[in-house]
Amino acid sequence: MIVDGSDPEVIERAAKLLAAGELVAFPTETVYGLAARADDDSAVGKIFAAKGRPADHPLIVHVADADGARVFASQVPPVAVRLVATFWPGPLTIIVPRAAGIAEAAAGGQSSIGLRCPAHPVARALLAAARRHGVPGLAAPSANRFGRISPTRAEHVTKEFRADLMVLDGGPCEIGIESSIVDCTRGHPVLLRPGLLTRAQIEAAAGEPLHDPDASAPRASGTLEAHYAPRAPLRLMPTAQLRSALDMLGGSNLRLAVYSRVSPVSTGPGLVHRTMPARAADAARELFSVLRAFDDEGVRLIWVEEPPADAEWEGVRDRLRRAAAS
Ligand code: TXA
Ligand code: MG
Repeated sequence: MIVDGSDPEVIERAAKLLAAGELVAFPTETVYGLAARADDDSAVGKIFAAKGRPADHPLIVHVADADGARVFASQVPPVAVRLVATFWPGPLTIIVPRAAGIAEAAAGGQSSIGLRCPAHPVARALLAAARRHGVPGLAAPSANRFGRISPTRAEHVTKEFRADLMVLDGGPCEIGIESSIVDCTRGHPVLLRPGLLTRAQIEAAAGEPLHDPDASAPRASGTLEAHYAPRAPLRLMPTAQLRSALDMLGGSNLRLAVYSRVSPVSTGPGLVHRTMPARAADAARELFSVLRAFDDEGVRLIWVEEPPADAEWEGVRDRLRRAAAS
């Protein structure tokens, strides 16, 4: 059930549902989230059940501000303090040591916790209202079934879950891919998942270089290879390879979707082409809805031109690589 997230009465109703341990879907600037109160393990259990997500995969806890983070963290390391000061509210999640006795289920049993303060006005209103009802934070993964594409519009969410789930509509997500995740529990910051922020931006705020995850990094769905998958198999190809594949195709009648900056020379009746934007931010914003639209058209194959190798494209490259790995 889609409701208007800009209506204060709707926010109040949603906050009461959350306080009572129910689920509500809400918009953030990255993707839509499926929320439960983070301090109630049985409420959080409903998220895992609804998504079909394994219970040992940790969720991100959303808080109203940096003070809210202190409820869930036993300690906020200096590098995390600097990142929060620069990027909150915004598309950055920090992993910090978890306070004892809270959000055990949300953390998937780990001794650390992922925290994020989103910037979307509907998310902020919801977090503030929930806090007035005694809810210190909202555990919220992306509001999609496990392994599927994250939703960037309210309508995407209603397609994934029971019809009576309350979905706060906040319009299409501005950023379109999930937050950057930086693990601050290891002595040096580790980039677990790239988002729209570049490494250079994060390193400038952190005041130190980012490391890559090693084998001991926790296994988690946002970092699994086969993730973010459309139904149709997706192939990622270098520009030259895509060009020649398209040439060979001629006017054949494949149900094929192509997402590329180069345009197909010949378009057969079964070919759906979408132009990949020249700017990474524009591509990120539309990426998941383009993939969903290809699925909705019933294509059998999706061919995607590899994005530019520039730093700005790291988050988009990451999501496409995972989608291609399925
Ligand atoms: O943009 C986003 O981050 C969205 C919106 C809704 O805020 N949320 C999101 O949540 O992408 P989700 O559950 O789909 O991704 C959470 C990922 C996990 O899969 C894992 O990679 C990482 O965050 N994570 C969370 N807690 C962690 C922890 N304690 N240790 C390591 N990784 C953790
Ligand atoms: Mg997800």
